[in-house]
Amino acid sequence: MLDLSTTVLEETIDPSNWEDLRETGHRMLDDMIDYIKQSPDRKVWQPIPAPVKEALDVAVPKEESSLNEVYNSFQQNVLPYALGNTHPRFWGWVCGNGSATGMLADMIASAMNPTTSFGEHADLYVEKQVLDWTKEIYGFPRSSSGILTTGASLANILAITTARNFYNKEIRKKGIRNINGQLVMYASAETHSCLQKAVELLGIGSENLRKIAVDENYQVRIDLLEEQIKQDKANGFLPFCIVGNAGTVNTGAIDDLETLASIAKREGIWYHIDGAFGAVPKLLPEYTERLKGVELADSIAFDYHKWFYVNYDVGGVLIRNPQAHKEAFEINASYLAHHERGIIAGDLNFNHLGIELSRGFRALKVWMMLKEQGLEKYSRLVRQNIQQARYLVELVQANDQLQLMAPVPMNIVCFRFYKEGLSADKLNALNKEILMQLHESGIAAPSFTVIKGAYVIRVAITNHRSKGEDFEILVNEVQRLGEHLLNID
Ligand SMILES: Cc1ncc(COP(=O)(O)O)c(C=O)c1O
Repeated sequence: MLDLSTTVLEETIDPSNWEDLRETGHRMLDDMIDYIKQSPDRKVWQPIPAPVKEALDVAVPKEESSLNEVYNSFQQNVLPYALGNTHPRFWGWVCGNGSATGMLADMIASAMNPTTSFGEHADLYVEKQVLDWTKEIYGFPRSSSGILTTGASLANILAITTARNFYNKEIRKKGIRNINGQLVMYASAETHSCLQKAVELLGIGSENLRKIAVDENYQVRIDLLEEQIKQDKANGFLPFCIVGNAGTVNTGAIDDLETLASIAKREGIWYHIDGAFGAVPKLLPEYTERLKGVELADSIAFDYHKWFYVNYDVGGVLIRNPQAHKEAFEINASYLAHHERGIIAGDLNFNHLGIELSRGFRALKVWMMLKEQGLEKYSRLVRQNIQQARYLVELVQANDQLQLMAPVPMNIVCFRFYKEGLSADKLNALNKEILMQLHESGIAAPSFTVIKGAYVIRVAITNHRSKGEDFEILVNEVQRLGEHLLNID
């Protein structure tokens, strides 16, 4: 028989002294508020020294440590070596910079610690509320379905899964081999790589993603798209989806979304929009015309952690046909079945709308930030970023050592340092070195891309902390580094 007198049955990971925890917790909160507040005063980024990497590569701890010790180690080895996207001069890839409110919301969500999946608890209703607001923002009907995700990559995958399963209702049961022919999807050559991942994961295959060439504005060539669909049909392929870009990752190009909608309608196939960041200017009356067609899509992938500046990670997908959404993912397991009363009552079943069962309460930070800031403030901030992109274009065009490398329809500026007489390879190497030195000096963090074979410095402005002078610093520094590197060559 078990001897209860000698068996510990009451161990917990709660602190033995809550007041000590409170003191450390308050210190952490103060430190993190200072960390965000002081972002502009730090270098954007700094390299991680070897001893720090060693400290982050040790065996799993067997013994206990005090929270203070753990926190000290975090302060020493983690905090100083962040990506840098809280800084006003971070413009790499498409990263939002988050907010203090988002940080606090994450803390609160974590304290509640629900799994926002199914049942009858308020976090599910908060996510529904956020999704309903998102429908208003992108002009989707209230009857649409949706789910928040880790980001637009997963959102795109969920949308394409829904499109595939809607095309053929037997796929879930019998697999893709059951189809008499090969499914094909259409998207511009500038489309984000996560859509290729989607067709690869879904058994469609990357060869069956038709990457349609773009025009001089990096918008999909409608004539080539129509021709490709015609050819594919004649050859027995099965077109099932067209993807439109509301903001391509390289240059921010917006496809002709309305025409794409009419082609998809005519062909009777799914119309999906990747609006990860570029659908956000739907908030602005001056973008109504250019983003016309967003509201016509069968599905849209969006992000809150990019141009809504919500802390990582949170994106999502809206799907016009709620039945199609549910039918793509729903499985009724006996241990998850709905009941009329108790914790398992309630009709919000996010486990039936995606691939995850356990999910965090990421809706809270969106809910709090949208409530706190309001859409009018967001409109002003998004417009400010677009105006900053125009300002940067002016600075580049006013400088005869810099070249603008692509049109700027929104918030992404691609440019390079240029010197007459240098070969294409030398110009590419020079601009790459300029970018490396920008990062390593911690002065600014744009990223890069390749446009028509040219390595370019790419500035994606989804940053609510950037000011006009930050772009002046960038341009002056690129010019200084370019001249310096040419002189020492
Ligand atoms: C146009 C576009 N689509 C999709 C993605 C992927 O989004 P996420 O990083 O949120 O998964 C990005 C990321 O930058 C993007 O710019």
